[in-house]
Amino acid sequence: MKEPYGKTADGREVFLYTLKNSKGCVMKVTNYGGIVTHLLVPDKSGRMGDVVLGYDKLADYIKATPYFGCIVGRYGNRIAKGKFKLNGREYTLAVNNGENALHGGLKGFDKAVWNATEKKTGRGLALELTYVSKDMEEGYPGTLSCKVTYTWSDDNEFIIEYEATTDKDTVVNLTQHSYFNLAGAGERDILDHEVMIVADRFTPVDKGLIPTGELRPVRGTPFDFTSPARIGARINQDDEQLKFGGGYDHNWVLNSSDGKLSLSARVTEESSGRVMELLTTEPGLQFYVGNFLDGSNIGKGGKAYKHRYGFCMETQHFPDSPNQSAFPSTVLKPGQVYRQTTVYRFMTK
Ligand code: GLA
Repeated sequence: MKEPYGKTADGREVFLYTLKNSKGCVMKVTNYGGIVTHLLVPDKSGRMGDVVLGYDKLADYIKATPYFGCIVGRYGNRIAKGKFKLNGREYTLAVNNGENALHGGLKGFDKAVWNATEKKTGRGLALELTYVSKDMEEGYPGTLSCKVTYTWSDDNEFIIEYEATTDKDTVVNLTQHSYFNLAGAGERDILDHEVMIVADRFTPVDKGLIPTGELRPVRGTPFDFTSPARIGARINQDDEQLKFGGGYDHNWVLNSSDGKLSLSARVTEESSGRVMELLTTEPGLQFYVGNFLDGSNIGKGGKAYKHRYGFCMETQHFPDSPNQSAFPSTVLKPGQVYRQTTVYRFMTK
């Protein structure tokens, strides 16, 4: 189902799509930024709750958003000093995060109006989103043709399939930036959520959150989520990496690196009994726990999103890969197809 959702500043009409699966669970998506605005899943007693942070109106997303629910591109996460070299040529990007480039620039894919087509697949209702990013848009070379398909399956799986092609060598690192709170958006912070991440290493950062290049074992550190742990259990420990991030805001090096869809994380929220499993084909997971939220974003139903009221699990290649030759490459060449599949699967225990 499709309904008008308003207009952008330059007068482009935007829509809100409702995908309701056979279990009666609803996902709402707008083609402005590919933003997932609502995701309703049951708790242990069958009561529906909205587990993603977001706004009631398009105008609020246009005004100011810390990337609630959107598609991030052309390059998710940070590129040091907004510069990278490709085939001997240096490219300069807008610096929009301290001295670094973040999330694709001043007008990234999160602010683009995507073309949307409603589909029905064997797994459920889907929305196919396409966007063509022009050569040198936000400083990136090559015309990048992107297709992102959201499927809301009858098994309460939010399946995201990404595809992109280019006409010149470029770099690409797409991700999805939903903020989750399994206790319900706007209810409370996420510190009691229990998290497991299938990663023995993470990429430590400098104070601007650029990876140092090291792949550091998590064992014996507050970054060890190989066994389930509460987000809040170690977040205030005296640890340099936690200080740089203001909490968790780091890339975990997922153990599965063969590009196959693998279980990469599981999150459990005791009071609601909700569980979210994350599967991805990507090598990295940026786990960010809403450290920058401060109550100034007034979300759905007038609820203020305070410090750590949501967490993100952004599946991606590692930050700053264009400048780190030892990291898995984010270069895309003509004739190649960038592909990623990520699944957020919801259930109760
Ligand atoms: C990512 C970054 C964070 C922050 C958020 C958006 O998760 O890693 O540092 O910028 O996006 O607020």
